[in-house]
Amino acid sequence: MKIIILRLGHRPQRDQRITTHVGLTARALGAEGMLLASEDSGIEKSINDIAERWGGSFYVKRIKSWKSEINKWKESGGKVLHLTMYGMNLPDVSGEITTDNLMVVVGAEKVPPEIYELADWNVAVGNQPHSEVAALAVVLDRLQTMHGNEALKTEFVGGELEIVPARVGKEVKGR
Ligand SMILES: C[S@@+](CC[C@H](N)C(=O)[O-])C[C@H]1O[C@@H](n2cnc3c(N)ncnc32)[C@H](O)[C@@H]1O
Repeated sequence: MKIIILRLGHRPQRDQRITTHVGLTARALGAEGMLLASEDSGIEKSINDIAERWGGSFYVKRIKSWKSEINKWKESGGKVLHLTMYGMNLPDVSGEITTDNLMVVVGAEKVPPEIYELADWNVAVGNQPHSEVAALAVVLDRLQTMHGNEALKTEFVGGELEIVPARVGKEVKGR
């Protein structure tokens, strides 16, 4: 399943850290890249720095119009899942989400109301307010598992460093 993230409503002063975490979580759990509806170039730089060191081909692309990105995605046959606590709870709709090309929309500040209509699915990870990072992690893990992929076993080719999993201590080797 090809998955890309669309991050909406990023506020450069306030959301720097959490948007970086949205991107890093998306990368770690097997998404291909993140579209960022903002001029802020700091996110791109910090995620690219990490990807250079730790490998893989995850990208961050700044975009001007989130609406035209959604329309392009849908015209090419992709589907759109909007993460919102007001949506249908994930366990109740996950069986419908069978597409091979999924855009996951993740809000920061209040999202434009149109997004609820444009999305194929408005999905809640539990109908309680919490974190976009947590919601994204759960949805990526669950949907990929349903498609026979282990999100947490995503492979990262290239890069400079690799962790050797250890029961105790820290081991990192160069590549
Ligand atoms: C901190 S919330 C902002 C909530 C905001 N008050 C609103 O009107 O949507 C930021 C983002 O986290 C995600 N989020 C928060 N709780 C969620 C939940 N229970 N299920 C799915 N996504 C959630 C949504 O993508 C939301 O746009």
